[in-house]
Amino acid sequence: MLRRLHQDQPESFAFTEANLKWAEGQISKYPEGRQASAVIPLLWRAQEQEGWLSKPAIEYVAKMLDMADIRVLEVATFYFMFQLQPTGSVAHIQICGTTTCMICGSEDLISVCKDKINAKPHELSADGKFSWEEVECLGACANAPMAQIGKDYYEDLTAEKLAELLDKLAAGEVPVPGPQNGRFSSEPEAGLVALTEWESGRTQYNASVARAVEVGDGIKRIDGTEVPLLTPWRDQKPEGPAGKPKVEKEPKPAADKPVSKAGATKQEANATAKGKPASAEPAVAAADVEAAGEGAKPEALDAARDGKADDLKKISGVGPKLEGVLNEIGIFHFDQIAAWDAAQVAWADQNLVGFKGRVSRDDWVGQARKLAKGE
Ligand code: FES
Repeated sequence: MLRRLHQDQPESFAFTEANLKWAEGQISKYPEGRQASAVIPLLWRAQEQEGWLSKPAIEYVAKMLDMADIRVLEVATFYFMFQLQPTGSVAHIQICGTTTCMICGSEDLISVCKDKINAKPHELSADGKFSWEEVECLGACANAPMAQIGKDYYEDLTAEKLAELLDKLAAGEVPVPGPQNGRFSSEPEAGLVALTEWESGRTQYNASVARAVEVGDGIKRIDGTEVPLLTPWRDQKPEGPAGKPKVEKEPKPAADKPVSKAGATKQEANATAKGKPASAEPAVAAADVEAAGEGAKPEALDAARDGKADDLKKISGVGPKLEGVLNEIGIFHFDQIAAWDAAQVAWADQNLVGFKGRVSRDDWVGQARKLAKGE
């Protein structure tokens, strides 16, 4: 396919304030003079913001990275993941047409796209809400046929199911991604014949789907406010030459030597640095949480104290969506979570997150205690 700039171009492009901050963080990861290394992340973020890459967006990124426009255009036109024409305002549908999906019915899915969206790929539907294209294997062959809609995978599709998904999306719903035929993940369709005990502890969604539901930005245009902007490189004080953050070099241990005198491995040291002891027991013992059954709902506040909530996203495992859920149920501060007992952790495990055991597994209480102390 000929990949060239679209005939209709907008007047201008600019990152949103939050996306600009994010982009500057990306650039600061590279040494002076090597900013061009950030070209793909920046182009990708521009596409996430607008849905496609316009000429002004390509030129904007070139300017930010001090690159010639043609060099950035080369990257944008080389990779098929970059859309060079406007995509649907609701979603761009990517149907996998490679062998497994083709054998399992991807041609029927493409027919649905032709009927409901546009006879031609990369063209908008009459209402401008959708566009579609056929893509190569997306690596979910065990759940063929499948489609990527926005960021998420919709698997085990049929023509009827895809038509239904498009209707729901057009009506403003975001259907739950993952297998659409009742399968949990990619286990045998006829049911398990081995490891059957796993079924009894099964959660509502598999981990990928649970995460997608939790984050909830599958078809959203990204303006930068939805991702935590805390990045190690962004938060360092500019001490190095030319205002660049000074990055401390990590000591490199010999293959068989621990990194610390205390004998911690590099992995353990990293985990501890994040406030999560790699092998230490969680603050609330897993056995107590298990014994607490359905648990008890944690005590709530009507509003954040002094109108200022803590940034609960600092707890590993809490994203923007989960933070919103916590605020909705009256949890605004680290010290509230730090005070949870086994019963309250058990309740949170079962009611707040998509998969069982995550609050205790990620040791929210232990993390919150450290954060409450300002660590
Ligand atoms: S062939 Fe479709 S996901 Fe691999």
